[in-house]
Amino acid sequence: MEQDLSKTNNVLIKFENVGKVYKTGQITYEALNNVSLEINEGELVVLLGPSGAGKSTLLNLLGGLDSATSGRIIFAGEDITSFDDKRLGQFRAKDVGIIFQFYNLVPTLTALENVDLIRELGVEIMDPLKALEMVGLGDRKDNFPSQMSGGQQQRVSIARAIVKMPRLLLCDEPTGALDTNTSREVLKLLQDQSRVHGRTVVMVTHNNLFADIADKVIMVKNGTVFDIQKNENPKDADELNW
Ligand SMILES: Nc1ncnc2c1ncn2[C@@H]1O[C@H](COP(=O)(O)OP(=O)(O)O)[C@@H](O)[C@H]1O
Ligand SMILES: [Mg+2]
Repeated sequence: MEQDLSKTNNVLIKFENVGKVYKTGQITYEALNNVSLEINEGELVVLLGPSGAGKSTLLNLLGGLDSATSGRIIFAGEDITSFDDKRLGQFRAKDVGIIFQFYNLVPTLTALENVDLIRELGVEIMDPLKALEMVGLGDRKDNFPSQMSGGQQQRVSIARAIVKMPRLLLCDEPTGALDTNTSREVLKLLQDQSRVHGRTVVMVTHNNLFADIADKVIMVKNGTVFDIQKNENPKDADELNW
């Protein structure tokens, strides 16, 4: 059997008592309170919790898209909460790939051009056509987003996220707009990013069933992490049924 690259014991990310307070005018809102957690290199992690729990906030802090109000976030041994804007921008450009619920493709660019766009970040990228082939869309390279199904558009957005070979792949409700069969395909691609390519994948979902495919499940409620479970034998994504 092929080696499963999702099973390492190297800690890639550590949250130490992280808090996040949003301020809008006079109103403050504590979206995260005293969150501590660890994520290993190569792991597939599911962030699970109801709407409004703080999952997207947590994901944004993980990827340096927003900054913590308190605590420390360590990535590969470095405290990213101490980075200035320039350094944080470099971290995002090089180390973080992100996939959202609604794809965010540029409608006037083809699939290949959407993936190739990442070149402009000035980071090392793989051949964009290879990235499209990895998600099974080599033959769709010249299609515009409007000529593809939702599942295909999401696969293009996965290709765009992995073309720069990031250490961390973040996914916020990546199947939220997809039907069951298409969701399963997308989940399989994400699980393979961890198992076959050794990439650390963190996926936000409110669907409890998706916890079964994760190496680690982090449960979020009311801005706190109330449980972390390890799955010794996660299910294969293509075996999921719902
Ligand atoms: N930029 C923001 N300003 C103010 N409040 C916010 C902001 N982003 C999120 N929130 C609030 O923080 C809470 C957690 O939001 P979020 O992290 O998006 O939750 P989830 O992704 O679990 O649904 C919600 O109550 C939300 O309204
Ligand atoms: Mg969210």
